[in-house]
Amino acid sequence: MILAFETSCDETSVALTREKEVLVNLTRSQLVHSEFGGIVPELAAREHIRYIKPMTDRALREANVSLNDIEAVAVTYGPGLASSLMVGLVFAKTIAQMTRKKLIGINHLEGHIFSPLIDYPHLNPPMITLIVSGGHTELILVKDWFRYRLLGETLDDAAGEAFDKVARLLGLPYPGGPQIDRLARQGNPDFVKFTIPRIKSGELNFSFSGIKTAVRLLVEKNPPEWVEEHRADIAASFQETVVKMLLRNVKRAVEITGVKRITVVGGVSLNSRLREVFREEFEEVYFPSKEYCMDNAAMIGVAAHFRLRAGFESDLTLPAVADLQLEYEE
Ligand code: KG4
Ligand code: ZN
Repeated sequence: MILAFETSCDETSVALTREKEVLVNLTRSQLVHSEFGGIVPELAAREHIRYIKPMTDRALREANVSLNDIEAVAVTYGPGLASSLMVGLVFAKTIAQMTRKKLIGINHLEGHIFSPLIDYPHLNPPMITLIVSGGHTELILVKDWFRYRLLGETLDDAAGEAFDKVARLLGLPYPGGPQIDRLARQGNPDFVKFTIPRIKSGELNFSFSGIKTAVRLLVEKNPPEWVEEHRADIAASFQETVVKMLLRNVKRAVEITGVKRITVVGGVSLNSRLREVFREEFEEVYFPSKEYCMDNAAMIGVAAHFRLRAGFESDLTLPAVADLQLEYEE
């Protein structure tokens, strides 16, 4: 059994996992940031400090286990906000030291890569994984566990960031992704013809700054009443274009690698239009259930199980690494 922590951003999450099974996964999204239109690091760290201990007590209680029953403590050590990461890291280290259990640091992105295994335990590499979240847009070939090849990444904004910024332009609250998803259902996706940036045939990188700017210009050039009236149409057109951009690159990745098994993970993988289109286009595509799309400790626990079994372990000097990258091979 693994006790896992995730505090890389604005979700405090504690889980108890056994191999790929989740015994309990508690996640608390911080609401304090909504009035600022983005995450305030200082407030995020304070909220983590406030909730991590009571949430851990509750997780142990709900699973009816004690700290003695766990084999290891897993924790996200990057990438993320340094001050947020630090809270989970110090807490996890304290427990590991106190109980003399193993400590294992997990890369947040690797956690997302393992997240579909909770719902689909028989899933195996090779597979193509699209990570789409508030901070990341990465297209990865998972050759084997821990053996990744980076196929493409965003050259500017992350996909979720684009959703959040466009939502803000349309006067919708943060986080904008779910708001745009909801609003787009009542809108016409062909209302605005946003151009999809033309890129070379073998190119698998993403760029979302162009469409974000196009929405900004549209909002600035038209009267507020017009924008208000067509908010759903703009949201639908924007969403449709982003989904097409993601789809195009994943299709190319399938052609280039010959790998047909696809997983889509991270907050944006919750998008209903993205799920619909990808399910139509690909024979074998997997999405985590909602709880495991968003940042959560369960995926950290599952990744930790694989890492520990492969002989990895961290020590108490493990630092928080805000800009931690996955280790890629060719
Ligand atoms: O994975 P996540 O919870 O946190 C990060 O690691 O960033 O992703 C959060 C992002 C936010 O940008 C949010 O707007 C986006 O996921 N998101 C969505 C939807 N639900 C959440 N984007 C589009 N459609 C959704 N339904
Ligand atoms: Zn994430």
